[in-house]
Amino acid sequence: MTGVLTQEKHREFDYSRNDFEKIVKIIYKVSGISLSDRKEDMVYSRLARRLRRVGKTCFEDYLNFVIENNDEQKAFVNALTTNLTHFFREEHHFDYLEEVLFPEIFAKHQKRIRFWSAGCSTGEEPYTLAMVWEHFRNRPGGFDFKILATDLDTNVIETGRQGIYGIDKLRPVAEEYLTWFSQSSECSVNQRQVADQLKQYIHFKQLNLMQDWPMNGPFQLIICRNVLIYFDRPTQEKLIKRYYDLLEPNGCLILGHSESLGGNKGLFENLGKTIFRKIG
Ligand SMILES: C[S@@+](CC[C@H](N)C(=O)[O-])C[C@H]1O[C@@H](n2cnc3c(N)ncnc32)[C@H](O)[C@@H]1O
Repeated sequence: MTGVLTQEKHREFDYSRNDFEKIVKIIYKVSGISLSDRKEDMVYSRLARRLRRVGKTCFEDYLNFVIENNDEQKAFVNALTTNLTHFFREEHHFDYLEEVLFPEIFAKHQKRIRFWSAGCSTGEEPYTLAMVWEHFRNRPGGFDFKILATDLDTNVIETGRQGIYGIDKLRPVAEEYLTWFSQSSECSVNQRQVADQLKQYIHFKQLNLMQDWPMNGPFQLIICRNVLIYFDRPTQEKLIKRYYDLLEPNGCLILGHSESLGGNKGLFENLGKTIFRKIG
C-alpha cells in the first residue's frame, strides 16, 4: 500500500497508508486523540504545512524527525488538535450557571470558588465564564474566585493568555458584555483585548488530560466541552471518573452537546442539556 495515497491524489509529499497509521498511533499515545480513517486527508493537509516548514520532502522522514525532536513533537500535536470554539458557545450552559449554580454558591457563603475549563482552546470558554461571573451584580464580595483553563495545545494556551481576538470573534457576545473588550496598544485595527479584570481570574496552563494532574481540587465546576468526542470510549470514561474525584460533593460537570457520561451514569444526576451534578 505504501505510496498509493500519493499516486492517487498527486500530493506534494509522499504520504502512504503506513505513514497515516504511524501518525494515528503517535497521536493516540501522546494525547488520547483517536483518529478515524476519515481523517486521512485532514491529517495530510495539517501536517503538510509542518513538512514545508521544517524542509522535509516526505512523511516518512518527517515522522522520524518528530520521534527524535521534542519541539517538533509539540508542533505535530498542535497541528493535529481541533480548536474550534467561540464565546458563549452553548449559551444554555451559562444560563444555568447564572440562574442556579452561582446563586447556590452565594447562598452557601462559600468563599473559595474553583472552576476548571478543561480543553479550553483559545480561551473563549473561560473568558465567558468570567464575564458571566462578573455580570452577577448581586454577588456578595470577598470571593476567592479562580478559573483554571488548560489545554494540550501550547499555541492556544498562549492565545488565551494574551486575550486578543479578532472583532469577528466577538459576534456572539451580547452588547452588555462588549465593555469587557477594548482596543489596547497590542491590538491591530480589527482586534480587541479582554480586560485585565477578567484576566485576573484565569490561570492558563498547558496540561495533557492523559497525564497526571497537579491539582487537588475540589472544584465547584468542571466544564469539559467538545473534548471527549476526540477520545475513544474507555478514555472518555476514565476521564469522567477522574473529574468526579476532583469535584466537590454536588459539584457540577458540563459536557458538550454530543457527549455523555457513558458507564459513569450512576455517579451523577443528569439535569439535561449535558449538565450533571456529582452524587455524593
Ligand atoms: C474543540 S476544542 C473545545 C474548546 C471548548 N471547550 C469549546 O467547547 O468551545 C477541543 C480542545 O481539546 C484539546 N485537547 C485535545 N486532546 C487533549 C488532551 N489530551 N489534553 C488536553 N486538551 C486536549 C484540544 O487541543 C482542543 O483545544
